[in-house]
Amino acid sequence: MAVLKVVRLGHPVIRRKAQMVPPDRIGSPEIQRLIDDMIETMHDYDGVGLAAPQIAVPLQIAVIECKDNLRYPDAPAIPLTVLVNPRILSTGGGQQEDWEGCLSVNELRGRVPRWRTLEVEALDRRGVPVKLTPPEFFARVVQHECDHLVGRVFLDRMPDMLSLTHLPEFLRYGRQESA
Ligand code: NI
Repeated sequence: MAVLKVVRLGHPVIRRKAQMVPPDRIGSPEIQRLIDDMIETMHDYDGVGLAAPQIAVPLQIAVIECKDNLRYPDAPAIPLTVLVNPRILSTGGGQQEDWEGCLSVNELRGRVPRWRTLEVEALDRRGVPVKLTPPEFFARVVQHECDHLVGRVFLDRMPDMLSLTHLPEFLRYGRQESA
């Protein structure tokens, strides 16, 4: 396994639509190694999610996990989840605004409205179809990662830029702000 370089906003791949992974290729050593490397990279960068375009691979793969996270110390735990070719089937519960950041837009935080709940279907790392109904923070991360797969970042989802803050200033001033 290897920690890969996370590319940032400005690299053309961040704005490109990712390609579907042919289901019969998911079990290949190349895709399995890619998934392992994405998980290790997410852990090394203290991310709660990582999409393949963020390591300059334009494929529809995202990994998600939240466990004792340094960048999101207050966030609820999310089990390790691998989503290949994910598709959001439905959204619900209304939208809720909360702080978001991104390894490809690093050192910035902003308030982003996201659906509270959703239903998503995908293939897991064995190529088996799965259907998830992640709640709240997990749902937020799924929406953030699915956006990466169509070339969007959280900045595009901000209704206004007034809450945009650098991370040290967020830690000093921003956390108290309520929704
Ligand atoms: Ni991101």
